[in-house]
Amino acid sequence: MKFRTLDDVDVGGKRVLVRVDLNVPMQNGKITDLSRVNRVLPTIRELMQKQARVIVCSHFDRPKGKRVPSLSLAPLARALGEALGKRVRFAEDCIGPAAQQAVDVLRDGDVLLLENTRFHSGEEANDPNFARELASLAEIYVNDAFSAAHRAHASTEGVAHFLPAYAGRLMQAELEALHLALGNPQRPVAAIVGGAKISTKLALLGNLLERVEVLFVGGAMANTLLAVQGFSVGRSLQEPDLYQAAREIMQRAEASKCSLLMPVDAVIATELAPHVPTHTVSVDNVPEDAMILDIGPATVKMLGERLQTVRTVVWNGPLGAFETPPFHLGTVAIAKAVAEATQKGALRSIAGGGDTLAALNQAGVAEAFTYVSTAGGAFLEWLEGKTLPGVAALAA
Ligand code: 3PG
Repeated sequence: MKFRTLDDVDVGGKRVLVRVDLNVPMQNGKITDLSRVNRVLPTIRELMQKQARVIVCSHFDRPKGKRVPSLSLAPLARALGEALGKRVRFAEDCIGPAAQQAVDVLRDGDVLLLENTRFHSGEEANDPNFARELASLAEIYVNDAFSAAHRAHASTEGVAHFLPAYAGRLMQAELEALHLALGNPQRPVAAIVGGAKISTKLALLGNLLERVEVLFVGGAMANTLLAVQGFSVGRSLQEPDLYQAAREIMQRAEASKCSLLMPVDAVIATELAPHVPTHTVSVDNVPEDAMILDIGPATVKMLGERLQTVRTVVWNGPLGAFETPPFHLGTVAIAKAVAEATQKGALRSIAGGGDTLAALNQAGVAEAFTYVSTAGGAFLEWLEGKTLPGVAALAA
């Protein structure tokens, strides 16, 4: 898909509405991870340097159309200001007189953050009247929120009907990376899919089967596939309601050119808690009272060898219960192998999803991947082959 970027527009002296995703993790009013703030800085800095009047908007959490003081974006204005090294003004509403007055006093190169767009029900309803009001604040619309692009909301989709729309630098980087991952990748391509539930990733597996040469399934979702193959998975997390769907995935893999790989061994324990006693067993040897909580060393070796035969890796979801040590070790070992091959120039590696990012950070290798997406749901929907409304609205 072709889309317009900041290279295609003259923003000097213009009011530019920039949709970013400041839906950052927060605990007791404190931001616990600034990644999403840092990733939108290049777009905002570029607009400032080009003397635009920068009007930033975002949603935060899910206030469901009501003004919820604890979900105000005010702390994000401070965080953004600190990161930019420049005062960021804050408007206590994203439309109406408060927003308009704040925009009116902006000078070229200034930055304003509007209050949470989801304080208005028109945002999620993609109400054209709300979108028109938001659009009326500006002359140009820049969308830099790939991670919210799966939502057809007023600030991600609706405003593009009222203003000329451009992709910001982060949106551009995300789209270019995804193109390298599945659009026009260097082949062969391997996908690594993990996570707890196969029910949330059926569409993903179905789409990947058609697009990649190797598909490795790990995490608790692999337990359902193992159970369908006749292995006993003991007390492991699995979804018996999904046996038929899992069988179909396996049949489709057989009919396609994709080789579907599953764990061959597992790290097991009788409870999921930090540093409990563990054993490593082959998947045909899981005791009735045990739970599979990570991939084992034979699986790490098998997958590691397979990855040496491919040129692109796409990764979504951890391969074990990575938040609870020592069940992070399988994910960490594979992350390190992918990072090393990437650094050697043997692979392109693209990863995304909240848990995946946390796992790669834990392994200390996020920087060593070719690209790590800021998106969770949007990355998943893109991998499922869906059209993202926020991206479609930018089509040139
Ligand atoms: C995200 O965190 O994935 C995006 O900001 C979207 O948030 P939402 O799931 O509340 O729409």
